[in-house]
Amino acid sequence: MRVERLRTLHRIEPVGIDQVPEFSWCISSPERDTLQTSYRITVEDGDRTVWDTGLVASESQSFVEYSGSPLRSRTRYRWAVTVEDNHGNTDTASAGFETAFLDTAWTARWVESTIPRPAAESWGHGTQPPAVEFLRNFAVHHPIRSARLYATALGVYRLTLNGLRPDDRELAPEFSVYRRRLYYQTYDVTAQLREGANTLSMYVGDGWYFCPVTRPLSYELRELPAVLFQLELEYENNLTETVFSDGSEICRTGPVRSSDLYWGERFDARASFDDPRPVKIVDLGYGNLVAQPIDPVRPVALVPAVVTYTSPEGDLIVDFGQIVAGRSRVKIDAPPGTEITLEHFEVTTADGGYFNSMIAGQKDVYVSDGARREYEPLFTFHGFRYIRVSGLPSVSKDDFTAVVLTTPKECTGTFESSDPRLNRLHENILWSQRNNMMSIPTDCPTREKAGFTGDIQIYVPAAFVNEDMTSFLSAWLRNLSAEQRADGVVPMTVPFTNLYERLSLRTSEQFGGEGVTGIAGWSDAAVIVPWEMYRATGNTLVLREAFSSMKSWCDSIIATARNRRGPGGLPEELDRYLWNTGFHFGEWLIPSRKQEEGDFEVTRESSAYVAPFFGYRSVRLLADVADVLGRVDDRDFYAAQAARMKDAIQQVFMTGDELPTELMGGYVLAFAFDLVPADRRDPYAAKLVQLIEENGGLLDTGFLTTPYLLDVLVEIGRADLAVELLWETRQPSWLYQVDMGATAIWESWDAMSLDGTPAISSFDHYAFGCVDDWICREVAGIQATIAGYKHTVIAPRTDTRLTSCARTLLTEFGELAVRWTGDRLEITVPCNTTATVLWNGQRHEIGSGRYSF
Ligand code: BGC
Repeated sequence: MRVERLRTLHRIEPVGIDQVPEFSWCISSPERDTLQTSYRITVEDGDRTVWDTGLVASESQSFVEYSGSPLRSRTRYRWAVTVEDNHGNTDTASAGFETAFLDTAWTARWVESTIPRPAAESWGHGTQPPAVEFLRNFAVHHPIRSARLYATALGVYRLTLNGLRPDDRELAPEFSVYRRRLYYQTYDVTAQLREGANTLSMYVGDGWYFCPVTRPLSYELRELPAVLFQLELEYENNLTETVFSDGSEICRTGPVRSSDLYWGERFDARASFDDPRPVKIVDLGYGNLVAQPIDPVRPVALVPAVVTYTSPEGDLIVDFGQIVAGRSRVKIDAPPGTEITLEHFEVTTADGGYFNSMIAGQKDVYVSDGARREYEPLFTFHGFRYIRVSGLPSVSKDDFTAVVLTTPKECTGTFESSDPRLNRLHENILWSQRNNMMSIPTDCPTREKAGFTGDIQIYVPAAFVNEDMTSFLSAWLRNLSAEQRADGVVPMTVPFTNLYERLSLRTSEQFGGEGVTGIAGWSDAAVIVPWEMYRATGNTLVLREAFSSMKSWCDSIIATARNRRGPGGLPEELDRYLWNTGFHFGEWLIPSRKQEEGDFEVTRESSAYVAPFFGYRSVRLLADVADVLGRVDDRDFYAAQAARMKDAIQQVFMTGDELPTELMGGYVLAFAFDLVPADRRDPYAAKLVQLIEENGGLLDTGFLTTPYLLDVLVEIGRADLAVELLWETRQPSWLYQVDMGATAIWESWDAMSLDGTPAISSFDHYAFGCVDDWICREVAGIQATIAGYKHTVIAPRTDTRLTSCARTLLTEFGELAVRWTGDRLEITVPCNTTATVLWNGQRHEIGSGRYSF
């Protein structure tokens, strides 16, 4: 038996943490039926043991929270875990982590640029002022044993020491609710320093902080780039020294003439750095500084261009063959002064021409200084498969590479079946997932790059079957609660930004609300995201941490229902339990309900059921969360509230044999949220099937209901229909996208018509990729019956059109694998878990190990 895959805060050997760590590990063994019987964890800082759990008789092997002596700032710890199993084997493994600032005060001062720039609100896109470099010379007095740099900025920066980058991270400090949580980064800079004179540079572009779209509306922000850094030197002779930003820095502008996350960057290779100016010390406090809690955004793959061609309009187009989020890296050899424009876009017109439906230009401009160089922008990123190149007479594909940027996470799954289209669908889902995890979960990497709460709420289960989302989403949830309003309202995006605050205020007014109001299925992310995280991994820490945020969101739903009267003059005693007022996106993007831009009237129809149903869903889930956490009073209170909400929904919506809607989604949610009265199940099931049949056997569901559609069909005994929808190739369907050459998941079902004409849509949105979770559970047949896969039912659905299917899933306990070919099934059940296998009409109860049936 071996202990392996040790993680601290679900990261590998993190350097620079400021949270109480939780520890996780896996065990593997060639012996079947292996269970962990006990563990013992010790944590040491050098020779001192700061925590020793002693022998703990327990099967827990994830989310074991540290509770030893208080950890110290800036200290390296090793932790070791010794595990014993039920066969009498033991093994030990160890890992490390390093703290950043815990209680220690910063000595560094914030220093701000003194180069004048107009107020950010007055900028147009792409007309921002140049990026600012902050420079500091300092001396290193002795040979160095170790050096750590802690740094952050207003804007996004690139750090170099003596011209060397300590790592390949990009766009730090990443996107967060800056006024409450500004991440600082920890660097091991031992290798970049030398005895004698040294230079530190932080080159700061606008990033999210200064971007006109992503600046928050209602909070005051600074107008000038600023940096904060503190370098801690440990010499070999045991002396220590601290070098920190203190006002002795200088600032200047250089070749990055402007940078915008949406519009792109302008880089003038001819421009040298201007004359230096002094910086100004400013007091921005330290209260919002948080050690970066997730692995940094960095390049994870390089995609070479596959072809270049001239479009019918005469444009030079470079095709990378794959939609990515990141940047293009281009070899340039052009006469001085040549201006080369790179316009990034996702899909072409039907005849291969340039097409950009985005509000963002995604345009990088490089001005040549005559030297042969490789250019990649510093302070922007784009979503693209193609670029249109102008300013060069011709292009060669060998000169173009797409650099894929993302927040890297551990891969937790693979899928391969006998059908290439299903495999491609899975690939596309993976790409959309990767392309939309740039420090926060976003809707798309092109048009909006925004942390839409609804999109991730829909997608969490699918996200977990592909990547370990724990640290990423835990960090995002902390941003969510930082952004939550005093009245409990969770905004449509986290972070909440200028654009969406305006939109919220406008729509809310249009729909009779006041100020920023909650949005069904979007704001509910506050409850659904932590709940799904718990289901995927057994993580109760996230439930505990998010509990007050969930609760204040649910209290806000309950108060809105109680205080505001909905349409239709319903009796007060029912209406007060229905969340039926205010603006909602409704199901969003139902194929049959076309929406003109900015027209939200069409969302009213589905909002009628979406809001009360999701309101009930959140309150009911909160009662379940309270139950898991052992909070009996909360459980009873919210369970009683939920019961009243359910009763009101049934009395208002479910007295007849049909729901008051002709949309499939109403029926889907009613079943999915267990709202259907027993005596209405048959007529509702029949009606849902009828709606699908009347629609020519095609789905007609939007964002909020598609995730439940196939499950509900299975539940009502129409698994055959679910399978049909999965294999459907007419529009709207998943495989239609694949047949149309999609390389990621489209935002809307009708993003491209059969003749290849693209619509105004994004082609890289993960929401409809939610089906990956269903494929994992139903086609591969991996269904957790206890949170975190402590027990799994393995029941592949072979009535699909596949002859084979292989799925792996890296659970908290280790790898679970299912491979079936014809009537032969091979599985691997991770140690410390059990499974029920349903195969060929037989049932087997098994423990860990490899099996073949
Ligand atoms: C985004 C979505 C988002 C929606 C809100 C869109 O513009 O791209 O994915 O959830 O707005 O309805």
